[in-house]
Amino acid sequence: MSSPIVAVSRQIPAPSVEPLTQAGFDVRYRDVDSPCPPEELRALVAEADGLLCLLSERIDGALLAAGPRLRIVANMAVGYDNVDVDACTARGVQVTNTPDVLTDATADLTWALILAVARRIGEGERLARTGRWAGWRPGELLGMGLDGKTLGIFGMGKIGAAVARRAVGFGMAVIYHNRRPVPDSPAQYVGRDELLRRADVLVLNAPSTPETRHTIDAAALAAMKPTALLINTARGPLVDEAALVDALRAGGIAGAGLDVYEAEPVIHPGLLELDNAVLLPHLGSATREARAAMVQLACDNLVAVLGGAAPLTPVNRAG
Ligand code: GLV
Repeated sequence: MSSPIVAVSRQIPAPSVEPLTQAGFDVRYRDVDSPCPPEELRALVAEADGLLCLLSERIDGALLAAGPRLRIVANMAVGYDNVDVDACTARGVQVTNTPDVLTDATADLTWALILAVARRIGEGERLARTGRWAGWRPGELLGMGLDGKTLGIFGMGKIGAAVARRAVGFGMAVIYHNRRPVPDSPAQYVGRDELLRRADVLVLNAPSTPETRHTIDAAALAAMKPTALLINTARGPLVDEAALVDALRAGGIAGAGLDVYEAEPVIHPGLLELDNAVLLPHLGSATREARAAMVQLACDNLVAVLGGAAPLTPVNRAG
């Protein structure tokens, strides 16, 4: 019997495709560090039994039709808004993601952004580098202290809970809004309006779905405190970027820290001009440890499903 064929849509870090070759698969590795164009991806999956893809690739009905043998789409990300899960389910294709292994890395980066915005790290770093710094001044770049302030979390999944755990060390009270209250959460559940009204720092940790699209729009921003900070390490479409630019310009809120954008890699030009926005290039899970674990988990899912076993971290019920 011939070995199952596994397509890998773009270059992945260590352990790379090693777990797949070790499992005896015929690996079709696109060892290129850029998103795979749809046409190339369709050719890559033509004979494939499994696909390891990334959030830079759109997996839709057209792609599935081009890969009639596909049994599993292993997305190397916890978010799977790039995958048409219903189309996969309809064709009996298993979808898997990589939860848990990136929770701490993403929560850490969320805090890096909270601190960067609250303490004006970006502005300070730019000042230090330009040679315009005139020496210590008592009123220079004053930021917001976190102790005693309220952290609001929109989306209390695993990453939201990890962000909340870290808040204890900073002396912040934590409130959250979620589709439904989370049993045993030490944080206080509140309605969405109350979350917007009370948060000194509002963190978005919800998945991108039609329901969460533009959850932070002009009206939501207007409901927030003018001193509040908005942090998004989830997905860009949760925020109406144009409305955010207006609010940051007009002092509707005090600052924003963003790791994700509506149309990555494009960033709204208004954001690029604003000193009260700290901008990162989607680095949430970018530690060597987390990325290695994500690769391994995506590969383990392929090994399990193509070997006839249950997926480790299923997104759908394929059959
Ligand atoms: C990264 O954004 C992920 O969803 O894993």
